[in-house]
Amino acid sequence: MSTHRADPKDLAILQQLLKPQGEFVSGEAIASEVGISRTAVGKRVAGFRGQGWTIEAVPNRGYRVDRWPDDLQPLRVRAALTTRRLGHEYLFVDQLDSTNSYLTRAAAEGAEDGTVVVAGKQTAGRGRLGRRWYSGKDNLCFSALFRPQLAPSAASTLTLASAVAVAETVEHYLQAQPLVKWPNDVLWRGRKLCGILLELGAEVERVLYVVVGIGLNVNARRFPAEIEGVATSLAQVAGRRFSRAEVLLTLLERLEHWVDRNLSEGAKPVIERWLDFAPWIGEQVTVRQGAEQVSVKALGLTPSGGLQIRRADGSIGELLAGDLLLKERP
Ligand code: BTN
Repeated sequence: MSTHRADPKDLAILQQLLKPQGEFVSGEAIASEVGISRTAVGKRVAGFRGQGWTIEAVPNRGYRVDRWPDDLQPLRVRAALTTRRLGHEYLFVDQLDSTNSYLTRAAAEGAEDGTVVVAGKQTAGRGRLGRRWYSGKDNLCFSALFRPQLAPSAASTLTLASAVAVAETVEHYLQAQPLVKWPNDVLWRGRKLCGILLELGAEVERVLYVVVGIGLNVNARRFPAEIEGVATSLAQVAGRRFSRAEVLLTLLERLEHWVDRNLSEGAKPVIERWLDFAPWIGEQVTVRQGAEQVSVKALGLTPSGGLQIRRADGSIGELLAGDLLLKERP
């Protein structure tokens, strides 16, 4: 397993270079900010060029970044990160079993709040309810670790906060609203764009950590036969490729925003925003629990994030888990 972390000096140079956005920065200014010689700056800039960065150097003006590499390497992502803490500890692993499994192991060994692990490829990606998750190399597979001060019963709304973060990211890139399906699938015209798997480490009275695993289909044009027809990607919808690094950066910013709001203000604003992406609330939906299927009316969400339903006999209930089948929408 080959893991990658950003070198702190490289990162500091790139952050200086990117600060004025499209302007030249003198080698001298970078050298004095970072605390190395101008020659050392030049050598490191040459190293960046070898990693896919296009950096112009003009005598008496300095350096300017003209093009970024389109990859998920730590330097690329960390240099442009806009979050307060999420992703500041960022690890890229070429191939691993599952980013959720990896981060759960790391959490037990003390990994800090805000750690993000991204995989080039997962060999045993996991989905909700014990399912498998297909993780093609063109998509985005990552997990984020949070250590919220919460009772375990309050943690399930983080699943809705994560879905809102994904839905807003998708809306930003597709310029149209996707749909969220309870609890946290993000769909485009009935096909799945993104799955989210939230896993918890907890004592009876307090959460120790939450791992939010996100699989977002970004550039896949084809899927394995068993999910072709039920999965889609941003690229399939828009007819063009997207930078996975850009999508990840947007998503991390949104995820931090909504998780923090959930923790500081409670679930109400998260639920209100989630409902913006759920036009099927108020309609009849089919609930699948194991081999059983029942038709119920979806009434809304409960304050703890469950789905409030009205059954055929008129009784009101709350679903805490399960799979929904929604009507096709035009
Ligand atoms: C689902 O819809 O069933 C949830 C799928 C979650 C997949 C992501 S990919 C990154 C992270 N690592 C995993 O093993 N699973 C999640």
